[in-house]
Amino acid sequence: DWKMDSFVKTTIEELKAKIGKGKALCALSGGVDSSVAAVLLSKAIGKQLTCVFVDHGLLRKDEGDQVEAVFGPEGPYDLNFIRVNAKDRFYEKLKGVTEPEKKRKIIGEEFIRVFEEEAKKIGAVDYLVQGTIYPDVIESGLGKSAVIKSHHNVGGLPDFVDFKEIVEPLRLLFKDEVRAAGRELGLPEYLVNRQPFPGPGLGIRIIGEVTAEKVKIVQEADAIYREEVAKAGVEGLGQYFAALTNMRSVGVMGDGRTYDYAIALRAVMTSDFMTAESAQLPWEVLQKTTSRIVNEVKGVNRVLYDCTGKPPATIEFE
Ligand code: XMP
Repeated sequence: DWKMDSFVKTTIEELKAKIGKGKALCALSGGVDSSVAAVLLSKAIGKQLTCVFVDHGLLRKDEGDQVEAVFGPEGPYDLNFIRVNAKDRFYEKLKGVTEPEKKRKIIGEEFIRVFEEEAKKIGAVDYLVQGTIYPDVIESGLGKSAVIKSHHNVGGLPDFVDFKEIVEPLRLLFKDEVRAAGRELGLPEYLVNRQPFPGPGLGIRIIGEVTAEKVKIVQEADAIYREEVAKAGVEGLGQYFAALTNMRSVGVMGDGRTYDYAIALRAVMTSDFMTAESAQLPWEVLQKTTSRIVNEVKGVNRVLYDCTGKPPATIEFE
């Protein structure tokens, strides 16, 4: 893609000129925007860049390791990478909390706290890198995201980090252009093509209290679901994932009675994420996914499909 090729080259040159010998800090979430921003910076200034990746223990299965494989010392890029394994802190803070907005708030605040601690260790930096893209610029102008819920975004990191200036190398790009730039920069397809994933992660795909056991259940179920959808080659989905309902019900297994959780599968088609339709997934995909989940994931004896659109539901299931 010549257009992206030239965007990448020009941007790297501009960043080099702008930053010179300065230091930059980036909060890396593993999402496509912050990943592409980080790689651009690493190509421009190498080890003058430090990326902090906060693993809150609410990522999808193996996601933390995938991010580390790309950005860590074994990966292809030359940068300082810090992975903070903070899941115990997050689980501790979330103990007993069931209200969704409260969970979001706790996760958002704890995230900031962990990031702040790391930033303090690094000390003053010249530039704070943000993966802001064009639609974010427009949205925040309209104040849209504040309306329905407190969108915790790794993007909006405030004043507690001691820096001079914010750099936002993607602020003129649309999502598909960011993906194209990511490919140009050699990012693996699973990062470039990642579905949108909320900052509070699986914390808002578990109804009721978040526990380590529940996180494990939803991670396993979701991994199976994604695998089966990919295998079947279903296209055109805006977002799809498994959520853990807080409902337990009676089931049978062998000679015994079970009393286990129900997993909800969700898949939506959407053009702008403001409204969405439930997708008509092929029945065989749903059946195969269901039978694998109840067989392979301990603690689950029922799988439900969410047929609701947005509105009145939201895309997430919290
Ligand atoms: P809802 O559930 O409100 O979600 O229909 C609309 C889109 O926004 C994503 N989402 C988030 N993204 N931080 C994010 O970065 C968040 O806190 C957050 N909450 C929802 C959701 O995944 C969907 O794509």
